[in-house]
Amino acid sequence: MKKHFELNNSIKIPSIGFGTWLIEDGAPCYNAVKTALNAGYTHIDTAATYKNEASVGKAIKEVAKREDIFLTTKVWNTDRGYNQTLEAFNHSLKLLQTDYVDLYLIHWPANQSQFDNWAEINSDTWRALETLYEQGKAKAIGVSNFLTPHLEALWKDAKVKPMVNQIEFHPGYTQEETVKWCKDHNVLVQAWSPLGSGRILEDPQVIEIANKYNISVGQVCILFALQQDVLPLPKSTNPERIALNLEVGDVQLTKQEIELLKNIQTTGFSGLNPSEVEF
Ligand code: A2P
Repeated sequence: MKKHFELNNSIKIPSIGFGTWLIEDGAPCYNAVKTALNAGYTHIDTAATYKNEASVGKAIKEVAKREDIFLTTKVWNTDRGYNQTLEAFNHSLKLLQTDYVDLYLIHWPANQSQFDNWAEINSDTWRALETLYEQGKAKAIGVSNFLTPHLEALWKDAKVKPMVNQIEFHPGYTQEETVKWCKDHNVLVQAWSPLGSGRILEDPQVIEIANKYNISVGQVCILFALQQDVLPLPKSTNPERIALNLEVGDVQLTKQEIELLKNIQTTGFSGLNPSEVEF
């Protein structure tokens, strides 16, 4: 298994990250991140809106050396725009108990169904990320949930091109058009909910593949992302599964299996369309 992906600014990013969405602040998040770090994760993904940055920061401070960890956070939708984003970033840094992040993302695009000037709003927010990048406070910058119209509009205005696009991606929901655009433009795709938030783990076709290789269904989903050069961010609060999700070993799914997994039922889909969401 590849240990790192390389971003378009040559920074190396550990190829599996620990996701923290919906892990409650306080003991649950602190314990989960601590367990993940002890299990060998060196890449942790959080966001201002997860409201658990303080627990993530505390766990990293206690268990790891900051420089050994690749830490991502994201600016939430209510903080869009140049000045507000800079303020939100400083607030995140305080909670995370650090003076830089490895990756800072725009969490969702301002979209067409909410704003006439959505492209301008996204470009203003992006300028703040460029400033943070130039100041060295964010070692890499990128976006999340951007579809091709959002990417194309941003691309035209951006001095620094996004290094990452973090999107929903799992068996049954692979956003082929967006992934292709990102690959063509050297933007690394990260997968949120790589296990379909646990909803595809009962799928008989996924179970059959897991049984064939004697691995877990979670590991099948992680391999499914990695083999398509997509960086998975699995999350779990269960110590055994936290460790298991990092240990995918040398199994190689076949091309046919990847195709089959792409086309399983969309049970895992969150139902969130970034061009239409109202938050
Ligand atoms: P748990 O915390 O009990 O392990 P996703 O990363 O796609 O959002 O999925 C996360 C969900 O999948 C969580 O509910 C988590 O529950 C569950 N999960 C994580 N890893 C595994 C695994 N290897 N096998 C089964 N369920 C898993």
